[in-house]
Amino acid sequence: MRPEALAELHALCFTTPRPWRADEFSGLLEARGTFLISHTNGFALGRIAGPEAELLTIAVHPDAQNAGHGRRLVDDFLCKATTLGAVDMFLEVAENNAAAIALYLKAGFVEVAKRKEYFKQISGPSLTALILKYSI
Ligand SMILES: CC(C)(COP(=O)(O)OP(=O)(O)OC[C@H]1O[C@@H](n2cnc3c(N)ncnc32)[C@H](O)[C@@H]1OP(=O)(O)O)[C@@H](O)C(=O)NCCC(=O)NCCS
Repeated sequence: MRPEALAELHALCFTTPRPWRADEFSGLLEARGTFLISHTNGFALGRIAGPEAELLTIAVHPDAQNAGHGRRLVDDFLCKATTLGAVDMFLEVAENNAAAIALYLKAGFVEVAKRKEYFKQISGPSLTALILKYSI
């Protein structure tokens, strides 16, 4: 997927945190350690640094959600990160994102920390982020 397509899909999936622009995806994709998992209905963007990897973002097209695509993307992210040498994988998720939290917990992530008022909303109070970790 090209940066423009990533940004288009991201905009369909996110309000908080705000969707990322094509130039932001371009910059991330050029950065050292970033890797993209791209499927027909969605994508996951990861970054590796030594023994740690981070799931930067994940999006499944709204018309294709709740059909197992997100789980396949998470599994592929974990597999790729492991192949690249990571042993601990982290991600941040808004505390009110029930679908994503359920997906991550089913995939084997556990909550390790909270960051209060982490995600700014266009309107309404800032949201707490949960920090989740998966260890191999
Ligand atoms: C979060 C997201 C990636 C999940 O992708 P998906 O393809 O819908 O997820 P899956 O169909 O693989 O579901 C995996 C599990 O997540 C849970 N889940 C998925 N959608 C759910 C929903 N709407 N409510 C509650 N749980 C849900 C279920 O437990 C499901 O397991 P099950 O099928 O065994 O019951 C997708 O909803 C999305 O793109 N959301 C918008 C962007 C976003 O919030 N990204 C995450 C930011 S941290």
